[in-house]
Amino acid sequence: MALVWDDSLSIGDGEIDHDHKILLELANRILSAAQLNAEKEALAILIGEYIDYTAIHFSHEECLMMRLDYPNKDEHIAAHSAFFERLCILISAFKRNEVGARNKMTALFATYTFNHIVTFDRDLADWCHQHHPHEGIGGRRKGDAVG
Ligand SMILES: [Fe+2]
Ligand SMILES: [Fe+2]
Repeated sequence: MALVWDDSLSIGDGEIDHDHKILLELANRILSAAQLNAEKEALAILIGEYIDYTAIHFSHEECLMMRLDYPNKDEHIAAHSAFFERLCILISAFKRNEVGARNKMTALFATYTFNHIVTFDRDLADWCHQHHPHEGIGGRRKGDAVG
């Protein structure tokens, strides 16, 4: 199973879209390695890369939300934190070789990466587009044709 970028995932901001493309690619590397039954150490390196990039990306979004006083910033930031908390629990279980931990962890990468973009991040982009059209996030809206 691979996560495929298409322009329907675009939230209309070049920098954030770029981050999301990289996150999908990093998640795909984890999913591929897991499918190929990669060694634990190899998988841990890929997970580390995903976490590092995600931390940078989250801080980018969170700075934007704080700067613009985005009304749903608390909920959105809580979703970022919840992901990291859930991930930490699963990584600990994975390190302890708990049964099912590897599958649960890889499933989290797949579902979270995609679902967060099309919900929380798109809502943020829509709000920015509406209230701060000159702040960098702009361009396409949900359902607009790509072109
Ligand atoms: Fe986000
Ligand atoms: Fe994001």
